[in-house]
Amino acid sequence: MRAMVFPKLCVGDSKDVLKSFDGDIIDFVLTSPPYDNLREYEGFDFSFHDIAEQLFRVLKKGGTMVWIVGDATIKGGESLTSFRQALYFQEIGFTIHDTMIYQKNNFSNPSRTRYHQVFEYMFVLSKGSPKTFNPLMDRKNVYVGYSALGTNTTRKKDGGFATQRKRTIQEYGMRYNIWKGNTAGQENMCKHIDHPAVFPLWLARDHILSWTNKNEIILDPFCGSGTTGVACKELDRNFIGIDIEKKYIAMAEERINSLQGADDYDLFSISGVEI
Ligand SMILES: C[S@@+](CC[C@H](N)C(=O)[O-])C[C@H]1O[C@@H](n2cnc3c(N)ncnc32)[C@H](O)[C@@H]1O
Repeated sequence: MRAMVFPKLCVGDSKDVLKSFDGDIIDFVLTSPPYDNLREYEGFDFSFHDIAEQLFRVLKKGGTMVWIVGDATIKGGESLTSFRQALYFQEIGFTIHDTMIYQKNNFSNPSRTRYHQVFEYMFVLSKGSPKTFNPLMDRKNVYVGYSALGTNTTRKKDGGFATQRKRTIQEYGMRYNIWKGNTAGQENMCKHIDHPAVFPLWLARDHILSWTNKNEIILDPFCGSGTTGVACKELDRNFIGIDIEKKYIAMAEERINSLQGADDYDLFSISGVEI
């Protein structure tokens, strides 16, 4: 394949576009696919199995993918498409490294028969063991300054107690795997972006920081308005975006070029802290 110029934005079905890529070239995939026809996207559907196989092929060994997805409620029951997809990823060779939750600070569809739905799954999948993990250390510890672990605090398999080195609890610890924060709408992005399912910029930034290093290659095969690309530009990563809809690629290009994102973003203030 010829040398790529970044950002690289492609109009087309990911099923076909990905086939034109060499294998083992992508460090990280961050994406939110269309799910269960909840939104119509100009009538396009997508071939999940073909795309899943192509994503595995183009990812480098040790590369990671974050697949953000929810389920529709169909005839009164949840579709569980998300789990079926996760199981298929596992079948074709991906490791299910973690199942994380994106908990929204708001719900979009009120429910009368069950609690309001405020989360999506974030399946963290890897091709072998992840080669990069830069944990975000922004969870404020309640017991800062106290000592943690000593004799008689941790049970062993045989029921006895293990002795562990005492340590002083630091002010901030590693974030948990439920990330709570504003939706794109709450970040005021939807004022500017004419796309039905934008994810928030903080979510893209925080995953990119966690799973990649500078100058690596990041792919969003359903890039929509280009949120992943905006975060890549801010964080000095190389972006490849694909969308079947020409007007969304034009939108992504404009956003990346003008770096239009959240109005007032402070790296650790929106998400994560004190979940
Ligand atoms: C959930 S949206 C992604 C939104 C994006 N994360 C953002 O922040 O704007 C899914 C996108 O997938 C695109 N899409 C649907 N089927 C596709 C396919 N087969 N290949 C590429 N893109 C597709 C839709 O046009 C839509 O923009």
